[in-house]
Amino acid sequence: MTNVAGTPLDSFRAELDRLQRDAAAALDDCNSAAALEEARVEFAGARSGRLKAAQKMLGGLDAADKPGGGRLFNEAKAAVTMLLETAQSRLAQGDDEVEPVDVTLPGEAVPLGHLHPVTLTIRRVQEIMGRLGFESVDGPEVEDQWHNFEALAISPEHPARDPLDNFYLSVARSADPLLLRSQTSTVQIRVMESRDPPLRIVSLGRVYRPDTADATHYPMFHQVEGLLVEPGTTMAHLKSVLRMFASCFLGGDVHVRFRPSFFPFTEPSVEVDMEWGGRWVEMGGAGMIDPAVLEAVGYDPDAVTGFAFGLGVERIAARRYGVDDIRDFYRNDVRFLRQF
Ligand code: FA5
Repeated sequence: MTNVAGTPLDSFRAELDRLQRDAAAALDDCNSAAALEEARVEFAGARSGRLKAAQKMLGGLDAADKPGGGRLFNEAKAAVTMLLETAQSRLAQGDDEVEPVDVTLPGEAVPLGHLHPVTLTIRRVQEIMGRLGFESVDGPEVEDQWHNFEALAISPEHPARDPLDNFYLSVARSADPLLLRSQTSTVQIRVMESRDPPLRIVSLGRVYRPDTADATHYPMFHQVEGLLVEPGTTMAHLKSVLRMFASCFLGGDVHVRFRPSFFPFTEPSVEVDMEWGGRWVEMGGAGMIDPAVLEAVGYDPDAVTGFAFGLGVERIAARRYGVDDIRDFYRNDVRFLRQF
């Protein structure tokens, strides 16, 4: 199985990053030979130093991850050794002496960053859905009425089109005002308009709604849209795909539940809930593509059927990582972000 976010290799990488950051902080502060020795034992001690502990973790990685893990370990070890040598020569020269610049010394190790948990989640979803044959496509974030509403059978009087429920662009006070898309279902339309079935696509991106931010809502969030158009498709295929996705993403013991619902562009429509670790959470909506939508994109509704689903990326990321409040993803607190 390919590596994905949250694997032992990822935790190994995170541990090495932490170790290097801690070593840089400890050695920068070092102002005596005793403090230097203490830091050397903590990080590079032969018996119980943190590098030694990391080397043991390396032994526990899958065989396929070992070469990559070994490379990361060697880089971390070289960086810590260099930090120790730099601290040693700084102390040897004495603090009040003007330090000569040795241009042949290697540069200072720059602490390594990593991908944001939402980006990690998006890549993971693309990878899992890719294995199920779903091609990843993008769509624009500024949309017109046709793709955000009309082709999706959302009529002009539908509350979802209310100016207070959308970010319409003020430059576009025309009969066809543009808006920041409120859902990724727009991409279903764009793909079906430009391609013939059979289709299996997934689209992940930002969407915008003037929702008040709380633990499960944010005015800018991400959705994952899935679309499958193939002869003979049923709700059973929809549920199987969602269950396979959920068990790959969250773990084998996840349950998927459909609750009857309504979306103008699917018939029947359902809300998708997932249960994992004893708690049900609403993750998104789904259903069989409404014949009116198939007609709007030029397909023959008597000849083709398909399903679509749309899930909230922050919701599934929060569930996966045990985050209680999705606002944490956007507070830019590095103490939070470092944990992924
Ligand atoms: C939709 O957006 C439909 N387009 C989903 C769909 C796709 C139905 C295809 C049928 C076929 P809904 O408005 O329920 O549905 O939003 C889907 C999910 O987005 C929600 O379940 C939730 O997980 C997430 N979501 C909605 N609003 C927010 C928000 N403000 N912040 C974070 N996540 C949100």
